Amino acid sequence: MTRAEAPGKAILLGEHAVVYGRPAIAVPVTQLRACATVTDAPAGQGIIIHAEDLGSSHHFGTPIDSADPAFALEATVRHTLDWMGSQLPLDLTLTICSTVPIARGLGSGAAVATALVRALAQHLGHSPTATEVSDLVYQTEILHHGTPSGIDNTVIAFEQPVYFVKGRSLETLRAGKPLWLVIGDTGIASPTKVAVRDVRRAWRREPGRYEAWFDRIGAIADAARKALATGDIPLLGRLMDENQELLENIDVSSKELDALIGAARSAGALGSKLCGAGRGGNMIALVSPTSVQDVADAVRGAGAVNVIVTELEESPHSADSETPRAPPVRDSAQC
Ligand code: PMV
Repeated sequence: MTRAEAPGKAILLGEHAVVYGRPAIAVPVTQLRACATVTDAPAGQGIIIHAEDLGSSHHFGTPIDSADPAFALEATVRHTLDWMGSQLPLDLTLTICSTVPIARGLGSGAAVATALVRALAQHLGHSPTATEVSDLVYQTEILHHGTPSGIDNTVIAFEQPVYFVKGRSLETLRAGKPLWLVIGDTGIASPTKVAVRDVRRAWRREPGRYEAWFDRIGAIADAARKALATGDIPLLGRLMDENQELLENIDVSSKELDALIGAARSAGALGSKLCGAGRGGNMIALVSPTSVQDVADAVRGAGAVNVIVTELEESPHSADSETPRAPPVRDSAQC
């Protein structure tokens, strides 16, 4: 049996504008994990994909509706087999499980696909690099998102904070000081594809206005990259607040997100914004170690159905970028 994992992710700054070529910053959320196992099956079985959390089972190669969640899993398997040059028939049982909530802005589709690509490739004797995994998962992201920027597959495959610009080589980030984040879930599922499509329609109607907002979001992400490197956490918080205002302008916030964000700020968060596609899903708050508990309690009190506290550790060196390295292979971890 081969088992592999991948984390969830949170976008600190720059979502939506990143689809239009502006920079964004994302971090892995290691408390959330997707897991895939691959086992050899009796001859003649073919490939069966079990998605435990969805209670679904799909026989690879049999007809499937594109709205079925197993559609993206089958596509991920097909892309990975094609990349390896593997010949069918193969007799394998693939099992997926995940603690990353679906359609809540935390990268569930990319996390599951990353775990699946790694487990399948390793099981069949291949060791894809993080870049190769990310590229394969990007193809699945197209099914989930329509026009993905590629930030989700990148931060999840590398499992490191990233400064991401579509089409440019990746830059991983070092934090000058530890970051404490509170992530609160509105409980509202919001498909990324729909929010991204609506923003695109609005951008087509008013390109000048939207381009100016995207420029400002890009400038915020650039300033945040510097603040992160120098450990200027209060500035990072203010930049997150500014980013939220612009996300409200482009109409991807919601009253539920606003309630959680407002509660986090009132309880002492240094900054707070929605995270991911918006319209629902999760918000994120940057907090000091002393306000973590108050902010988490306030976000829960304002209606969050789940609250995660995550710490991004201070990096050992002060430089703000490095050559990406592949994440460690975790083929024995439990889901
Ligand atoms: O909702 P998520 O976690 O899939 O985040 C999507 C981020 C967007 O910028 C809205 C889309 C993209 O492809 O970058």
